[in-house]
Amino acid sequence: MINIKELELTMSKLTAKGKGILAADESTATITKRFQAIGIECTEDTRRAYRETLITTSHFNQFIAGVILYEETLNQKTSKGITFPELLKKDGVLPGIKVDKGLVHLANSLDENVTQGLDGLQERLVEYKSKGACFTKWRAVYAISDKTPSALAIKTNADVLARYAAICQEQSMVPIVEPEVLIDGTHTLAKCEEVSEPVFHEVFNALYRHNVKLEYIVLKPSMVISGKSCSQKASVDEVAKATIRILRRTVPGAVPTINFLSGGQTPEQATAHLNAMNQLGSLPWNVSFSYARALQDYCMKIWLGQAKNIPAAQQAFYKRAKLNSLAALGEYSEAMEKEEILLASNS
Ligand code: 13P
Repeated sequence: MINIKELELTMSKLTAKGKGILAADESTATITKRFQAIGIECTEDTRRAYRETLITTSHFNQFIAGVILYEETLNQKTSKGITFPELLKKDGVLPGIKVDKGLVHLANSLDENVTQGLDGLQERLVEYKSKGACFTKWRAVYAISDKTPSALAIKTNADVLARYAAICQEQSMVPIVEPEVLIDGTHTLAKCEEVSEPVFHEVFNALYRHNVKLEYIVLKPSMVISGKSCSQKASVDEVAKATIRILRRTVPGAVPTINFLSGGQTPEQATAHLNAMNQLGSLPWNVSFSYARALQDYCMKIWLGQAKNIPAAQQAFYKRAKLNSLAALGEYSEAMEKEEILLASNS
């Protein structure tokens, strides 16, 4: 039975003005890649120690309302012996959990993918909830090429996202619905815009077909942006305007909050784009962040698996969290990148 009060409470915390979500839910394969790229050994304990570094940053709860965890972390304890969800809750931060099981080939498609993990989802949610998780995440991925995303991939991924969202709401857990149009490729902003509109539109068609209550979801889309290898880079203003144009056309005002993914943008770009969108004014939804790389990149590179680097790594994470919080209010400026932003003390 859906407990609307519970969903409302979670939504009210996740939509706090000027706060966003930290995605710390990289699968073991993904975090292994990120660690290896900078020479950090990837073990169960280094993953635990790194994530503890993030969530023990003092006062990060001023800027972060929720943290998405990976299943392994949900079951781990900090060095003080308390579970990650317990520690987050003590700091007034909501624990969430990635519940999809990654991508598989979509048969008869143009070499595209569909996200798996619906089998047994309901039973897993009961377990995750008993361990403290109150919201969930599921990511669908769409690659841009001359012929993709295909109508088949758009339709199938939308249906799976909607089934996931419906199952979560049934367990009174708020689903983060994440359709990601990938930044990889040489495509222009115009091409990304052309592709993103039907992708988002179909997601909302499917949510409607599956009776998902839009008041209790978080939409986590990609921005409308030029491809990473595109020769004509779109400006910050162009990205902000195109993204909001497409979202206005496709996302009902009943959706309380849109929390973007960073998708391979630099930390500074992701902050500047979010800020520019909020400066456009009178948006129908709260517009904030749910970044992984754009919040964590500097922190991870400074930490490097060594305890002595924890204070500087936390400082870097705190700075990105604060700047993105300002961007969620439209109050960020590029000049702030050069400012020293000191960690608020615990006293
Ligand atoms: P990025 O911000 O690094 O794109 O990650 C967001 C995320 O949660 C991917 O699923």
